[in-house]
Amino acid sequence: MQHPWAVILAAGEGTRMHSSLAKVLHPLCGRPMLWHVLKAAQAVTEQQIVVVGKGGSQVRDYFGEKLCYVEQHKRLGTGHALLQTLPQLPQSGELLVLCGDTPLLQADILRRLLDIHQKGKAGATVLTAEMEDPTGYGRVLRDINGSVTGIVEQLHATPAQQAVREINTGAYCFELAALHKHLPSLTPNPEKKEYYLTDLLPLLASAGYLTEAFKLTDAFPALGINDRVQLAQATARLRERINGQLMRDGVTMLDPATTYIDCGVRVGRETVIYPQTILEGETDVGENCLLGPATHLIDSVLKNNVTCQKSTVWQSKVEDGATIGPYAYIRPESLIGPDVKVGDFVEIKKSSIGRGTKVPHLTYVGDADIGPGVNMGAGSIVVNYDGRRKHKTTIEAGAFIGCNSNLVAPLTVGGGAFVGAGSTITRNVPPGSLTLSRTPQQIKEGCARRFMKNNKEK
Ligand code: UD1
Ligand code: CA
Repeated sequence: MQHPWAVILAAGEGTRMHSSLAKVLHPLCGRPMLWHVLKAAQAVTEQQIVVVGKGGSQVRDYFGEKLCYVEQHKRLGTGHALLQTLPQLPQSGELLVLCGDTPLLQADILRRLLDIHQKGKAGATVLTAEMEDPTGYGRVLRDINGSVTGIVEQLHATPAQQAVREINTGAYCFELAALHKHLPSLTPNPEKKEYYLTDLLPLLASAGYLTEAFKLTDAFPALGINDRVQLAQATARLRERINGQLMRDGVTMLDPATTYIDCGVRVGRETVIYPQTILEGETDVGENCLLGPATHLIDSVLKNNVTCQKSTVWQSKVEDGATIGPYAYIRPESLIGPDVKVGDFVEIKKSSIGRGTKVPHLTYVGDADIGPGVNMGAGSIVVNYDGRRKHKTTIEAGAFIGCNSNLVAPLTVGGGAFVGAGSTITRNVPPGSLTLSRTPQQIKEGCARRFMKNNKEK
């Protein structure tokens, strides 16, 4: 038997989003709406076609040319959108039609839709759902026997039809032979002048095909996104799914409602996540970590036993047993070694920090390579930028950098060297040496009072 194909309708203008970004590219939990739809479609069909229109180049840029696209040059409705794909479609078999703006419909539901369609030997099977508030959706009309007779859009529905709570989710399964024969005879809606795909159902019924419906008991997966309120609602639902799965797999969340994790992020067992934590993109967290409160990880890898509180880690890697924060900012291309301590108000940029090194407070490290067992005193600064170019600093194993020192790059501080507090170091420091660059301290005994008095008179 032939495997089913899928068409995803994604050419609508998305007017209600008020956005220059194509509607189907608006993300939910880190991935565009259309990505979610495609993922579900790819799991149950052999070949997918995406109908694109305005904003189509953005869609192509994101998904690349490996996908099969069909252009709908004029936005003349869902029926017209599907019509554009007919020349590409096989003559027989089954076709799943999905909307690009219903990202919560997962593969298991689509599989059941296909199954019910096949068992019912229908010409068309529509996926429906009972909604508490059906406003904005097409209503499903049935005859006294319960058979589906058609779908009426909100705009054209009589008050009695508007009271119907069973809605069209916008997902269908069609017999391709029936589609090839009857879709071209669809006529535009006289009021809206659009070709409604929903009008195909009565057309098929009058041609003698069975039209079936598969009604979802939980309506939430059917949520269609037309504006940003619905985008937020769908995102919240998807977040529940992601967090639920992680918790079932052994992650503790103090407050899943304020824990924001992108799809695809991995978190190991026994890790505890405090509220207001955001894990984005290609992020991978190991086991037994402590994240948050208020931690933001972007495209980063944290190994096991890492603590990261009130801090941001961005495109960086943190090794086993390191502690970060509170209030640290780790910028791209940094490598925080095992058992390192990066404390409060520390910024690290494009640097690597060796095993067990301590950068406990108020420090900037940029373009530096710091070895193991180094101590960076409070307020020590790596001066990596001369106003024109960035330069490298190397601090070798076991060096001690006193508080409030400036290390002016390019510079190497040798292994075990000691930099006295308050120094500005501009020349390389040989291993094992002590270096200081302070103005000698002066003491003028008994002068304090006179000094204060003079100051007041001024
Ligand atoms: C559509 C259905 C409605 C259903 C709802 C489910 C029709 C006439 N109405 O309404 O019964 O309850 O979905 O969410 O089908 N699109 C195109 N080209 C077009 C027009 C739309 O590709 O010319 C695409 C859109 O990008 C979108 C999908 O088709 O992904 C649905 O279009 P939209 O305008 O959102 O239809 P709804 O008003 O939501
Ligand atoms: Ca819609």
